[in-house]
Amino acid sequence: MTLLVTGGAGFIGSNFVLDWLRGSDEPVVNLDALTYAGNLENLASLDGDARHVFVRGDIGDRALVDQLLATHRPRALVHFAAESHVDRSIHGPGDFIRTNVNGTYTLLEAARGFWNTLAEAERAQFRFHHVSTDEVYGSLAPDAPAFTETHAFEPNSPYSASKAASDHLVRAWHHTYGLPVVTTNCSNNYGPFHFPEKLIPLLIVNALAGKPLPVYGDGRQVRDWLYVGDHCSAIRAVLERGRPGETYNVGGWNEKPNIDIVHTVCALLDELRPDPAGPYARLITHVTDRPGHDRRYAIDARKIERELGWRPAETFDTGIRKTVAWYLAHGDWVARVQSGAYRDWLQRHYGDKA
Ligand code: NAD
Ligand code: TYD
Repeated sequence: MTLLVTGGAGFIGSNFVLDWLRGSDEPVVNLDALTYAGNLENLASLDGDARHVFVRGDIGDRALVDQLLATHRPRALVHFAAESHVDRSIHGPGDFIRTNVNGTYTLLEAARGFWNTLAEAERAQFRFHHVSTDEVYGSLAPDAPAFTETHAFEPNSPYSASKAASDHLVRAWHHTYGLPVVTTNCSNNYGPFHFPEKLIPLLIVNALAGKPLPVYGDGRQVRDWLYVGDHCSAIRAVLERGRPGETYNVGGWNEKPNIDIVHTVCALLDELRPDPAGPYARLITHVTDRPGHDRRYAIDARKIERELGWRPAETFDTGIRKTVAWYLAHGDWVARVQSGAYRDWLQRHYGDKA
């Protein structure tokens, strides 16, 4: 038995691979193109571990994906690979369409081809697990109920539109071809290995460097935060017990305005790494808002709890404390990400084979 994971050198994918191999000896084949967001250092603890097979490549490379499926014969494909940053999608949407839409299409077609060759029992067991986002549902009014799985798709950014398109393709490959797919739509994650272009790690690394903490607009936009380890456990639950063709919303029951997140991170840093120059909140700087900025996301995660018994283990207080402590303990990881040195990892560890 083997899992094929895409995007397993990114933030959530690397947490998933590490988490999976902590609890199982089932090997993981990890296909990742190592864009700016892919960091093999996240997986350094698996160096020399035969259960982890890393393959540098693009999910849009059909011949490569076919070859990986034929060689490793995975019982499931867990699809994390994506362009994931809303701000980048505003400046350059092309890569988002190429990877999130066309790349997912290529994976679906390759998976369908492979799945068709399987014996009946294996066909029933196979899963294509598509990892998606709550952003496909659009923006909620302040008092509107949280997103359920039947909420209309109303994506507002090039990122969320490309993810919504991929969700539709996945759904259609189930309904038309019978491919056993499951989709999870998860809220904002935070935790170790989060690339410091996203809000929470950006706040931590900027504060430690004495740089401004940029708050878009009034900072009253609301996100529903989930510790990344809880996202990993939700994916495991859906892989094991989810019903093919279903989607499951995953969230932390932790709606918070951005400005509260900023103050919480500042307060934790004041406690754990006080700055002689004064409280970190002095660095808060309101900047021009993101165009088309969604005002509120909130996830109704009752279906996954009712059907699969999943609930997050972390509260926001426990998760954010762990996260800040992780960044404080991993200053060298941050420094190599910021200097770009993390991109040399492949060369240093694999030499010419890279
Ligand atoms: P990330 O940007 O940190 O990582 C993406 C990974 O995909 C990187 O390792 C990158 O190298 C790889 N990749 C990109 N294009 C590729 C391609 N064409 N072929 C192969 N690999 C490629 O993203 P993340 O935050 O870890 O998100 C992972 C998934 O979870 C995405 O599908 C995202 O939409 C979804 N998601 C993210 C969040 C969040 O808060 N970060 C929340 C819900 C859902
Ligand atoms: P982000 O981490 O980019 O995730 P997403 O846009 O996918 O929700 O942003 C989280 C929230 O924080 C979002 O409302 C935008 C806001 N934000 C800031 O206010 N300042 C920043 O520097 C960043 C990166 C985000």
